[in-house]
Amino acid sequence: NENYSYEIIDNIKNYLMARTKIRPKIGIICGTGLGHLAENLTEADSFPYEEIPNFPVSTVAGHAGRMVFGYLNGIEVMCMQGRFHYYEGYALSTCSMPVRVMKFCGCTHLIATNAAGGLNSSYNVGDIMIVKDHINIMGFAGNSPLQGPNDHRFGPRFPPMNKAYDPELIDIALRLSKEMKMESETRCGVYTCVGGPNYETVAELRMWKILGVDAVGMSTVHEVITARHCNLKVFGFSLITNKCETEYDTHEETNHDDVVTIGQRRQAKITNFVTRMVEEINNL
Ligand code: 6GU
Repeated sequence: NENYSYEIIDNIKNYLMARTKIRPKIGIICGTGLGHLAENLTEADSFPYEEIPNFPVSTVAGHAGRMVFGYLNGIEVMCMQGRFHYYEGYALSTCSMPVRVMKFCGCTHLIATNAAGGLNSSYNVGDIMIVKDHINIMGFAGNSPLQGPNDHRFGPRFPPMNKAYDPELIDIALRLSKEMKMESETRCGVYTCVGGPNYETVAELRMWKILGVDAVGMSTVHEVITARHCNLKVFGFSLITNKCETEYDTHEETNHDDVVTIGQRRQAKITNFVTRMVEEINNL
């Protein structure tokens, strides 16, 4: 647990707030291939992670690595274009540290997006899965972003997780998917995060499937735990970029390029969807 103290998070907030006039209520994390969203912000102020004091630096291809403040259809937001992954070697608390920065910048809501493999056999490549809930597999192994001394100024020692994904926001998203005629490509399911960077074996995927997982990725869960700890309301969705291979005799292989390509192919639709979501949240 690398310790990002209250004071460090406050300093990062002060650095950013001194350099942008945007006062966001909504924070957005753009998943792999979904960084396009951040490019749609107007009057944008961008901060490459390497320029923000105390910020880690993202290392994955397909992730730009910057914090972008701006207007999404007239509404003030802040956006992580590229996130920090556990497989890059950061502590989970480091991966989710920017969520606390969002909170300090004034956000009340977090929209967390990711690319994920579809484990539910009814899911198709290109589907959007609204996250109904998650299974914290890394938590079972004794790893949590909240490990270590708890600073009550962030949140309680033992935060509840039963409404991790805000039910009202899920309802709104399902309504929007109908209005946007995306019903046939919208799902609502359970996400899990594995450490990566390798994809899963067939036996592993079969195990998660039996345990009720619909989509598998390498992010989001620790960010959501950190967000709920500091009482941000959370909406999450996965872009299903590939089907999980749960048979031994297939020739298909999951690869990162396909994951990025599907993200790019679906970027217009997803940007639309997030924009509508932001409008709805802004009107709550
Ligand atoms: Cl199949 N697994 C994981 N862990 N992450 C993914 C994925 C699969 N497809 C996209 N991201």
